[in-house]
Amino acid sequence: MIDGFRCASCGAFVGLDAVAPWRCPNENGDRRHVLLRMERADVGDPLVSADGDEANPFIRFRRLMAWHAFALAHGMSDAETVQLVRDTNDGFHTTPVTRSSSLSDELGFGPTGGVWVKDETGNVGGSQKARHLMSILLHLRVAESLGLVSWTEPTRPSLAISSCGNAAIAAATLAHAAKWPLDVFIPEWASGLTVSSLESLGARINRCPRRAGDPPGDPTVLRFREAVAKGAIPFSVQGPENALCLDGGRTFGWELGESLGGEGIDAVDALFVQVGGGAFAAAVSRGARETGLRAPLFAVQTEGCAPLARAWSSARDDEVMARHWSEHMRAWESEPRSLADGILDDETYDWVADVIELRTTGGRVVVAREHNVIRASLMAPSISGIDVSPTGAAGLAGLMECRSHIDDDARVVVAFSGVRRD
Ligand SMILES: Cc1ncc(COP(=O)(O)O)c(C=O)c1O
Ligand SMILES: [Zn+2]
Repeated sequence: MIDGFRCASCGAFVGLDAVAPWRCPNENGDRRHVLLRMERADVGDPLVSADGDEANPFIRFRRLMAWHAFALAHGMSDAETVQLVRDTNDGFHTTPVTRSSSLSDELGFGPTGGVWVKDETGNVGGSQKARHLMSILLHLRVAESLGLVSWTEPTRPSLAISSCGNAAIAAATLAHAAKWPLDVFIPEWASGLTVSSLESLGARINRCPRRAGDPPGDPTVLRFREAVAKGAIPFSVQGPENALCLDGGRTFGWELGESLGGEGIDAVDALFVQVGGGAFAAAVSRGARETGLRAPLFAVQTEGCAPLARAWSSARDDEVMARHWSEHMRAWESEPRSLADGILDDETYDWVADVIELRTTGGRVVVAREHNVIRASLMAPSISGIDVSPTGAAGLAGLMECRSHIDDDARVVVAFSGVRRD
């Protein structure tokens, strides 16, 4: 079987040797196509191809990733790909996953069950976002070093992202280390620590007031897409903007499967992942599944913004759901509101990949009420000792929401994914 991406909406195929395989060739500006990596029956256990004691997941699992296949298809040697990762960013490492006895006790689990926490707060940029972006950056570095693109290092086109949170920090951290220019599109009113961190990392800040004549939608996204149309690179953590982000996000799931496998665990009862744009949950679940870990995805949204919950109920039995995109995924009508403010995306851009994971793993969407979001935001740092933000602890809020339906001897996983910055 030829390996590559298949558009979930129109079926278009894009091979792994394609330069800049960001979006479906039939996409016409509405971002209602998404290239998903084809499922490969012959891939076997991904962990078999993991690289010894190597800590950097972009080296350890390189043979599973699209950027690596792209490099080899164009004649780069495997040894050169390893050096390329080291030169691009060698700060990645396997983040820890451990059973938190304090959280397990607090939530009433018994000694054979409990809560396993994968602590992502120490990852590059303080969250999982850099994993999504690194696979884009590595593709670019390969293309540049093999002369497959029209630019060279001094004339690099700018990377572009619309975000004022963890994704922007991750983008600026990676771009700074790789000496690549970055444009960040942020709301007109944004201020505070994130903006000053972006400035100190050398990112170009573009404030985006709504302009007369703008179509509906977030002006930061409108300006980002205009920049991309003019040649900037979509350095995005949303699959419909750049398919490669989903590829690199799987590293989190591979690490999870490998760590739990090391403890003799090949199945858990629930994998709680907080959902904003939806790329994280889709990539984590798929990566975990690829290691053979059985882990029903419990995708967590807040009551103040839950577009995935609606899409899941309408699309779960629709075999061609991506063709009915606007029927299933509609922007959240009221002003999104929650203490977990990093997951208030009014659309779940990666809903198609999320629904595939929910179906395949036998999972569900959990809508956490705000009092549980607040309780989780307090309990997570004080009881686990991990300095996680309310957004990063929202998966725990999902666990609290459905705790009464989960057995005391069940094993559940939560992703603590973003460090607290205030
Ligand atoms: C800490 C943290 N966790 C989870 C998410 C959700 O990721 P996604 O937007 O891919 O659903 C975000 C996104 O902003 C985040 O910052
Ligand atoms: Zn398409």
